[in-house]
Amino acid sequence: MEQLAQIVAEAPARLASVADLAELETLEAELVGRRSVLAELQRNIGSLPPERRPEVGRALQQARAELERLISRRRAELEREAENLLLEDDRVDVTLEAYRLPGGGEHLIQQTIEEVCEIFIGLGYVVATGPEAELGYYNFDALNTPPTHPSRLESDTLYLDWGDPADEVLLRTHTSPMQARFMEAHDPPVYVVVPGKVYRADTPDATHSPVFHQIEGLAVDRNITMSDLKGTLAHFAREFFGPGQRIRLLPHFFPFTEPSAEMHAACFHCEGNGTSCRVCGGSGWIELMGCGMVDPAVFEAVGYDPGDVTGFAFGMGVERLAQVRHGLSPIRHVFENDVRVLRQFRGIA
Ligand code: PHE
Repeated sequence: MEQLAQIVAEAPARLASVADLAELETLEAELVGRRSVLAELQRNIGSLPPERRPEVGRALQQARAELERLISRRRAELEREAENLLLEDDRVDVTLEAYRLPGGGEHLIQQTIEEVCEIFIGLGYVVATGPEAELGYYNFDALNTPPTHPSRLESDTLYLDWGDPADEVLLRTHTSPMQARFMEAHDPPVYVVVPGKVYRADTPDATHSPVFHQIEGLAVDRNITMSDLKGTLAHFAREFFGPGQRIRLLPHFFPFTEPSAEMHAACFHCEGNGTSCRVCGGSGWIELMGCGMVDPAVFEAVGYDPGDVTGFAFGMGVERLAQVRHGLSPIRHVFENDVRVLRQFRGIA
């Protein structure tokens, strides 16, 4: 019994010195297990005289209860420690610099298309799109362009199916075929802009690319005049380049407009003062688009009455707009997809 009393007295210190749950289990077996001094004493209780048994039995029971209480307290402590260690191991340092995936953005060409369309939507126009593989009929015939016109040669136009002018299929050389398609499908009045890709048999150089983008515009109504065309294009230029922007119309020729014009914007970079201006080349003017009053022959081709309606049309190059706006030279910077260029235009509206 004396030995047991000592075991109980030393138990707190010994328990405190175990480092983990495995060590605790070993100590537990030694203190209260089947081979412990305590178990041995409890087993031998029968060899005591009967009158001493209850007293000794109670004392042994108390010693066991005390030891088990100490053990379970230490176990709870060790379990908590083990848990904390796990949490510490699993900790994520959210202040560490994370790997950032590069964010995408709209391409400069798409941004430009959207900006131009927004300006015309503000004037009541709708936006439409049409096929890039187009019938020769819509690309040329419906637009008053005879089979003998030089732009119909294979040296200018990329044909998918060539030979019989009646069912030629080609990559559209401009967005103008949508003038005819849209009028065929809608009664006047018509106010529509058509952005899209166009193709020409051009070798790429500083100012040419075999594929580029245009935005077509068409307005057909009663009493539309050339001043409506000029006012609309001046409004567009001021919205796109800034207030005070001046424009001019120079006589030109297109088979599907009469009269026809080239629209120029005053060079916003040098305002006509720089002989070596990188934007306009020194002329003081930048050519932005072709335009004109819709030729009566086009109205006839789509079933409109040229005695009843008049209209104007225009077609602008998107790469060119983006190029002059941002002073990008050569023009291939606009479509070559060099991220060092594109990155600079990720945020513009
Ligand atoms: N389609 C002409 C071109 O590609 C531009 C244009 C459009 C001219 C509409 C007049 C009217 O050059």
